[in-house]
Amino acid sequence: MKRLQKVISEAGIASRRKAEDLIVAGKVSVNGKIITELGYKVSGNDIVSVDGKELKKEDKVYFLLNKPRGVVSTTSDEVDRKTVVELIDTDKAIFPVGRLDYDTTGLILLTNDGDFANIITHPSYGLKKTYIAKISGILNKEKVTLLKDGILVDGKKSKALRVKTRRIDKNKNTSIVEIEVAEGRNHIIKKMFNEIGYDVLKLKREKIDIFTIQGLKSGEYRKLTVKEVKTIYSYKKNP
Ligand code: URA
Repeated sequence: MKRLQKVISEAGIASRRKAEDLIVAGKVSVNGKIITELGYKVSGNDIVSVDGKELKKEDKVYFLLNKPRGVVSTTSDEVDRKTVVELIDTDKAIFPVGRLDYDTTGLILLTNDGDFANIITHPSYGLKKTYIAKISGILNKEKVTLLKDGILVDGKKSKALRVKTRRIDKNKNTSIVEIEVAEGRNHIIKKMFNEIGYDVLKLKREKIDIFTIQGLKSGEYRKLTVKEVKTIYSYKKNP
């Protein structure tokens, strides 16, 4: 069940605020009955009309992109840099689910389904994400313990659930590290490493929960399967 104003704004008719005005003004009906109560809940089976016109339910679409470096994870950019949305061929109003930095590569999901995006990004679901970081310096056991115990970032502790050193280059003084977190905060991996004295030189996200970038070259994408979308929805609390 969703609040009426949310359903109207998600249909692209009006902002949430404007939708509230429309409801109060008696312009909105549910199954033929005028509803003026803000916060009235409707289900997907209810027929919502604004000014007598039935809202069309937009088909939901879901994409998994292997994001290249040098692309922003937003729907538009004020300095006209390329966006992840521009890499996907669709006429739907999709948006990226969470953020990857401009110079971070790898797995990012895009959709026009706000509920789906919320399950992926909301901290209460704690979906695991795996990153491969190339860092300055050699990662030693003490630092791994610090990461696993939790690093204070902007006043909040962030823990690595798993840390594995994939490669160490003593000549270049760099390490390639696989790190798993259940965190979605912006720049979290770079900040965690910075806090313990390393710079992140390169960063790639390889995995989010059931999704991986396997089989996709940089810039390539695929649609999610119905089964994958259902799996994510099966995590939903109070469905
Ligand atoms: N953490 C970062 O520091 N950057 C990203 O792009 C994603 C996670």
